Amino acid sequence: LSTEFDSRFIKVESVGDLDLLASDFTGKKGKVAGIYRQLGGLEASLRPKAGEIINELRDRIDRVVAEARPDLVNRERSMVLASSFSDPTARPGRDRISSARSHLVTRTRMQLEDTFIGMGFSVEEGPEVESEWYNFEALNIPKFHPARDGQDSFYLNYGADNSVLLRTHTSPVQIRVMQNQSLPIYAIMPGRVFRRDTADARHTVGFHQIEGLVVDRGINFGHLAGTIEAFTQSYFGPDIKSRLRPAYFPFTEPSAEFEVTCTICRGSGCRTCSSTGWIELGGCGMVHPNVFSAVGIDSEVYSGFAFGFGIDRLTQMRYEIPDMRILTENDLRYLSRA
Ligand code: PHE
Repeated sequence: LSTEFDSRFIKVESVGDLDLLASDFTGKKGKVAGIYRQLGGLEASLRPKAGEIINELRDRIDRVVAEARPDLVNRERSMVLASSFSDPTARPGRDRISSARSHLVTRTRMQLEDTFIGMGFSVEEGPEVESEWYNFEALNIPKFHPARDGQDSFYLNYGADNSVLLRTHTSPVQIRVMQNQSLPIYAIMPGRVFRRDTADARHTVGFHQIEGLVVDRGINFGHLAGTIEAFTQSYFGPDIKSRLRPAYFPFTEPSAEFEVTCTICRGSGCRTCSSTGWIELGGCGMVHPNVFSAVGIDSEVYSGFAFGFGIDRLTQMRYEIPDMRILTENDLRYLSRA
């Protein structure tokens, strides 16, 4: 048995082989156990000597196996390492190297900024956590005004009166810009906004808007319509139609909603545009005199217009993404799009 063990031991190449060999010999049902069982059939006087020999054999096998194991383990580990080795100095060309890209929403925001910068606008930012005054009051939405409902807000429990919230639109930045800058103003204000909307194909709880504000002498609705038309044409190209529909916002008068033909169905009606063929991108209108008086601008001398679009919606239409929730998932099929 001892020589049988030795001849098998030299052939061991892996930890697996070693384990198999050990269990064949010293395992519960192994050859050594078999011999122990035969001891009973031996003449009583021979038993102690035979037992001693087998014990020695068993101890030797245990020792040999235990000594061989670390080397085998190391050898296998270095084989794994060698086969997965990658050379960081290797030159590109063998594997396709993918580079990081900006998120589609970020790209859209940058394209929008470029478009408006080209039209002479500056880019401004404001805080995402706002007071009720900036988010509502200064925009002609007094306490208990029903328009607050439509913008289901996330309130932060600061102070007893709950007056701090995550901004529900970028319009409070208009107020800050009018307070802090001298006239005339031609500015866009991109940023993140938050609403307690139920997420669906066209809505997410946190999204992005881009606000526009123009304040100057002699600004009228024609300037607003023309600006929006120029922007749609330069952003979507001539294939996509846009339209303004009468609407209501407390901070503009008159007000309009801005829609484009749905790029998913090209205007024929689908789930993304809830079968209307049109998709709402945002609102706009002439700045309400109450807003001007909140920031101390004389509405007898100055007039202006404002607009606010959903950047995520624009992204969705531009890249033909059927469900807006895709934009907040890390799906590489979309993230890596050119
Ligand atoms: N703030 C409005 C909204 O979030 C959009 C808007 C901006 C409308 C500016 C008119 C003027 O719905």
